[in-house]
Amino acid sequence: MKIEQHLRVKVGDGYDVYIGSGILENCGRFISDLFPMRNCMIISESNVAPLYLETVQKSCEAAGLHVSSFVFPAGEDQKTLGTFGMILNAMADAHLTRKDFAIALGGGVCGDITGFAAGCYMRGIPFVQIPTTVLSMVDSSVGGKCAVDLPQGKNLAGVFHQPSLVLCDTDTLSTLTPEVFADGCAEAIKTGILNGGALYELLMEGPEEGRLPQIIGHCIAYKGGVVERDEKEQGERKLLNLGHTAGHAIEKCSNFGISHGSAVAIGTAIMARAADALAWSTEPLGEEVESLLKDYNLPVITDYEPEELLEAALADKKRSGKLITIIMPDAIGHCVMREVTKEQLLEVFTAGWR
Ligand SMILES: NC(=O)c1ccc[n+]([C@@H]2O[C@H](COP(=O)([O-])OP(=O)(O)OC[C@H]3O[C@@H](n4cnc5c(N)ncnc54)[C@H](O)[C@@H]3O)[C@@H](O)[C@H]2O)c1
Ligand SMILES: [Zn+2]
Repeated sequence: MKIEQHLRVKVGDGYDVYIGSGILENCGRFISDLFPMRNCMIISESNVAPLYLETVQKSCEAAGLHVSSFVFPAGEDQKTLGTFGMILNAMADAHLTRKDFAIALGGGVCGDITGFAAGCYMRGIPFVQIPTTVLSMVDSSVGGKCAVDLPQGKNLAGVFHQPSLVLCDTDTLSTLTPEVFADGCAEAIKTGILNGGALYELLMEGPEEGRLPQIIGHCIAYKGGVVERDEKEQGERKLLNLGHTAGHAIEKCSNFGISHGSAVAIGTAIMARAADALAWSTEPLGEEVESLLKDYNLPVITDYEPEELLEAALADKKRSGKLITIIMPDAIGHCVMREVTKEQLLEVFTAGWR
């Protein structure tokens, strides 16, 4: 095992994040240090379980934990109240008590739904995140936002429930398809635009495996800092939604056929182009952001018309009253929140649309 990065997120009781290789085989040691001799349920999904469940389960059992598991069908279309209910039933069938905990083994879908179930089961039991996609390592496994989708929109039912430990084993990324790998890079690039600095420099050097632990570390450090200052998204945390107003609209228009990461990439490109066109940015961003996203094999345009995106965006939860909060890039390393009317949002989508 090689631990490349160790960070601590200081929200609530605080939790450790380890990034490196060979962690899965040794995860039981980290987990049993926190929860010695307890019962746990590993929640995973149908693509990840055949690859990694046995390794995690064996390591946990060797460390003295009593382990059960529940595997649901993979995919965003399974991030539903139905799957959430099945997980709760499995937890009850396994007689988990409030002293026990869950382990999410999978990508963002698995992490979000497991965190939600753990946050609700017996009014909340702890959970450990073992993310297995770039997206879940750089973004979703940290911060405690846990939710499922409703037919009306993304992530509409959920809780804030912070994990107790996050273990990012970059070996697991070797089995991702190129598309899923690229998806996660969209959230890393989003974070790079927000943060600028060393993370952005690293991303500009292009996708290369050796840089991943550092990129993941920077992303988690940035997000962890934001979440420490604004856990419940009253202010600063909204910045993390850069590219997401348009992104969620694109996901919704495609009936979730376009993945979250690809939609966020297009959404981020729309906002960068709009910032240029509306003269809202202090430096030209559109071309630079587009070319960075393309370097990571991400899409930057959509066929959905601005009016369609607006309609889908207005159903989204980020709409409070008559104004919608959007995140506009001002410069690399500096983004701002803007409150816009729906007419102004249409202007933004139109200005950034291509
Ligand atoms: N909670 C948050 O703060 C937050 C932040 C960003 C995104 N999200 C959510 O995350 C979800 C997207 O996450 P994702 O992109 O990880 O999607 P995902 O969990 O659906 O994983 C993508 C695909 O990769 C497969 N997979 C996962 N790990 C694998 C591995 N190691 N090897 C082979 N295949 C593997 C999955 O089965 C799936 O088919 C969305 O639901 C989004 O809303 C949440
Ligand atoms: Zn996202």
